This record gives sequence, structure tokens and C-alpha cells, in this order.
Amino acid sequence: MSAFSGQKLDKIPAHVPPELVYEYDNARDPRLLEDPHARMRSLILEAPPIFFTPYNGGNWVVTRKKAIVDITMNPEVYSNAFLVSGHQSEEHSGEHKDSQPGLMMLPISADPPRHTAYRTPLNQPLSAKSVAGLETAIRTMTNELIDKVLAAGRCDFLSDIAEPLPVTLFMKLAGMPTNRLAEFRELATQATSATVDHASREATFKRIAGILAETIKARQEKREDDLISHLLDANIDGRNPTFQEMLGYSIALFLGGLETVVNALSFGVRHLARDQELQARLRADPSLLPGAIEELLRLYGIASTVRRVMRDEVCHGVQFKQGDTVSLLLPAANYDDEAFPNPEQFILGRKEQHQTFNTGPHRCVGLNLARLEMKVFYQEWLKRVPPFRLDPEKKPQFVGGFNLAISSLPLVWS
Ligand code: HEM
Repeated sequence: MSAFSGQKLDKIPAHVPPELVYEYDNARDPRLLEDPHARMRSLILEAPPIFFTPYNGGNWVVTRKKAIVDITMNPEVYSNAFLVSGHQSEEHSGEHKDSQPGLMMLPISADPPRHTAYRTPLNQPLSAKSVAGLETAIRTMTNELIDKVLAAGRCDFLSDIAEPLPVTLFMKLAGMPTNRLAEFRELATQATSATVDHASREATFKRIAGILAETIKARQEKREDDLISHLLDANIDGRNPTFQEMLGYSIALFLGGLETVVNALSFGVRHLARDQELQARLRADPSLLPGAIEELLRLYGIASTVRRVMRDEVCHGVQFKQGDTVSLLLPAANYDDEAFPNPEQFILGRKEQHQTFNTGPHRCVGLNLARLEMKVFYQEWLKRVPPFRLDPEKKPQFVGGFNLAISSLPLVWS
């Protein structure tokens, strides 16, 4: 997304008090790259609850749950309408002058009340009841992936399991031809890779948008039983979505559902690889899985997000100015002691709601699908793969940025 430009400011803006400046580069911070979630905890312990970082063009960073909830519940002051990949949003007209189709994301780029019109068509097809229809497909895909690695006694969990599973599922959900799976997987990997330059990433997104556009056109001709067909007939304030809006939906679903699930699965599996007792407990009693998954989601938040300040506002004692960018560090909020006692401990049965899917109108619309993917995956993986651990020869590699990510997770079992 375009919210961060990558440079460091020379001068801190006049309204930022010096004691609130804390140098944190969300892409290159060395402690983040060593252990992303340990860094999240250290931000709670070391940095002001709301601080200003001069990196990435300069922005506020909010790390506490209560402040994040207050901000996400107040979209009049804290807007999403600028969250358009490199381009100006024309959201109020419903028509987009943007000459690069596919880069406008829906419903994430819209503020209420417009957001409600865009979000409503997604709620039913992504409800817990509807996504349950994908359970058998997820189970089959998971088992096919396990079949490929089981006998070897080792795998790179990232490339062998975590990446293919959500891509395949996305293609199925969206109604895309699975004979293009390999091509799409390659594009998805490039699109989410932290090491490609900006121009190549943009080119990749254009190609993804091109493939999504083909599917949308095919469904315009003939509806099938898939999400794109459903969205084509959606009612947005008395009309159907435009072609550009369809692309906006498809790109947002693609971006929202891919890297997030890949990394949620990977961090969770890394935790289990380092905790043999928990592995054994979950193998013995799979009914503990839903609670365990929630606690893993809390410990290993993935996505952060941003808001633009629409008018001067004091937030938890800090003066924001109109036009400031506020980064909501959701994975750090999960380590806020005021919200989660003993935040570093894995505690089954916590009652507090974690911040991994955020709060407010933009709370993740894909959370039922994400939870289902994780549940089915863990059920099958723990049933079939013997006790597994991190490969002592090869360390996991981490990546910073908007999403906390693992780029390699070598596992072994015998
Ligand atoms: C563990 C996996 C996932 C995590 C951690 C995650 C995280 C998030 C977060 C934090 C937001 C809120 C962003 C904001 O407030 O600005 C969000 C929104 C969204 N997510 Fe997810 N997500 C996950 C899975 C999925 C899946 C599987 C899909 C696709 C089906 C998806 C699609 C979306 C969409 C479309 C939005 C925008 C919702 C709106 O603006 O109303 N996500 N997600």
C-alpha cells in the first residue's frame, strides 16, 4: 500500500513533542527481523504508547489495544479512504478515474456509510455457515500437501504447505480456473515477497488484476457457484458493482486472504515446533484446537493497518493534526499488559478478544474462512505428521513490513 514511502524524515513536524519520537522502521528494524513478535513486546515495554517514528515518511504508531479500538470505532476522524494502491480514490462517485484498473480495494478503501454498502455483499458468502461448505475441499488440499512431504521427514513449511493452501483455496472460492494454479501461485509469491522492488511488484499486481479481470468477464457471461458470480449480482445502493469495483473486491480479497493466512499458519506451526508438550496435548484432544488457534492468533498477530487523520484531534493525550498518518500496530496490541495479563504466555481459554482481526467496521471479513482453514489444517497435520521440530541446521527467516512474515520455516520429524 502507498501509506509508507520508505524514506526517513529529516525534520520532525512541529506538533510532535520530542519525548514522543521513537525510531522504529517497520521494514528494517534489526530486532524486528530477529524475532518479530519479541519486538512487538519490546515496543510495549520500551516505547511511548503512541509514538512518532521518522521512518517511512514519518507517522504515528499506536501500540495499545484501548487506543486502537477507540481509533477504529471513530472512522469520521480516522479515515481509510486514502488506502488505494498509489492512486487517488474516487470512492464517492462509484466510478473510478484511476487509469490502472484493479488497484482500488473494496471494501477496505471506503469509509462508512459508503463502506457498509460495499461490505454487505461479502458478509453472507463469508459467514461461518457459508464457508463451512469449503471444509471438505480444505481437508482434501491439506492432505494432498501432507502426502507430498510426509515420507521425507522434513519440509520447508512455507513453500511446501503454507503458501499453496490459501492460494488454492482463494482460486476455488473466487471461481478461478485451477489449471492456472502454478502461474497464480508464482504471481502470489512475487506479489507478497518483501524482496522485489516497487516496479516489479506493481507489474505483478497488474498481471494478477489481468487474470482476475478475465474471470470477472467470464462470469459476466455466465454465472457459476462462486464469490465473483455472487458479487456481480450484489446490490450496491440500488445498482450492481461496476467492473472496476469488481476488480477492487477481487484484489482486496486476494491481498487480504493470502499472506495473512500463510503467516498465521507459519507462526503457529513454529510455536508448536518449539513446544512439544502443547503438540502432544492438541494431538490427544483436538477439541482444544479452536481455543489454541485463538491464542496462537493473539501471540502471532500478522497485519497492521493505517488511518489518515481527518481533523485535528487529541487521542489518549497525544495531539494529532489533520493529514497525519496513524499506524495501528495490531500485533503489538496483543502484548499490551492492560488488555492481556501475562501477555507473553500461551494461555488456553483467555476471554479477552485479540486484536489480530482488528475492531470496528473494517474488522476482517475473512475471519471465518481464516479460522476454518487453520482448524482443518491443524486437525490433519497433527493427526498425520509425527512430533515435529525446527530444523536445527536451518533457522527460520523473518520479514518486516505491513505484515509480519516468515520467509522460510524448515521443519523435521522422524
Ligand atoms: C489470519 C488471517 C487473517 C488476518 C490476520 C487478517 C487481518 C485483517 C485485518 C487486521 C483487517 C482490518 C484492516 C483494517 O482495519 O484496516 C482485515 C480486513 C479484511 N480482510 Fe482479513 N485477515 C485474515 C484473513 C482474511 C481472509 C482469509 C480474507 C478473504 C476471504 C480476508 C479479507 C479481508 C478483507 C476483504 C478485509 C477488509 C474488510 C473491510 O474493509 O470491511 N482476510 N483483515
